[in-house]
Amino acid sequence: MRLDKFICKHTPYSHQRSRWLIANGRVRVAGRVVRDSRAWVDRFVSVWLDDEQLQGRPAHYLMLNKPRGYLSATEDPQHPTVLELLPRELHPELHIGGRLDRSTSGLLILTNDGLWSRRLTEPKQKVPKVYRVVTLEPITPETAQRFAEGIYLAYEGLTTSPAQLQLLGEREARLTIYEGRYHQVKRMFAQVGNRVTALHRESMGGIALDPLLSPGEYRTLTEAEIASVSA
Ligand code: URA
Repeated sequence: MRLDKFICKHTPYSHQRSRWLIANGRVRVAGRVVRDSRAWVDRFVSVWLDDEQLQGRPAHYLMLNKPRGYLSATEDPQHPTVLELLPRELHPELHIGGRLDRSTSGLLILTNDGLWSRRLTEPKQKVPKVYRVVTLEPITPETAQRFAEGIYLAYEGLTTSPAQLQLLGEREARLTIYEGRYHQVKRMFAQVGNRVTALHRESMGGIALDPLLSPGEYRTLTEAEIASVSA
């Protein structure tokens, strides 16, 4: 159904008023403001008018301070999973927006809004992901140069986007990357003959790990954090 018809049907507003509300940015579809009255609304997508949800399951957006040792998976016979740190009633709904390795700590986003999380994680969106890295060997100045030029990942047959490396110590750095390929940070350091011994994600786009969250704690994202993931 067209968005203007949908608003008209699910609210007391006239057709004309519905179009005005849409044009003025008051309507969100799948977490995103839509100003085009002709936009198509399917049966399952979430639709909001201001603070009122007109259709769709309640959306959940959480950030977790993932501790080391937890798997970014829904279930596993051997290791504890991140879902065990979250309320049981949300388990069937949530999926992870950008997994972390079992040994990696830090910002993990969980949501039931698939469109939103795709915008956060799809490589083509080029959302910056910031990691603090500790390595086995000293980090050379050439490493920053190589990362800025892009590192070829043979398995995917592609070169990573230019990444920024800021040295914080002899074996410690802050790295910003723009994709989230499998083991990307570890593979980038392996390509320059080094090894990552500790990895912690500090932020994804406009969402930074809340310093008030201890490892294993979570909170709901703020409106501003949700809105920071744009189309
Ligand atoms: N890169 C890695 O190598 N591991 C992670 O967990 C995240 C990014």
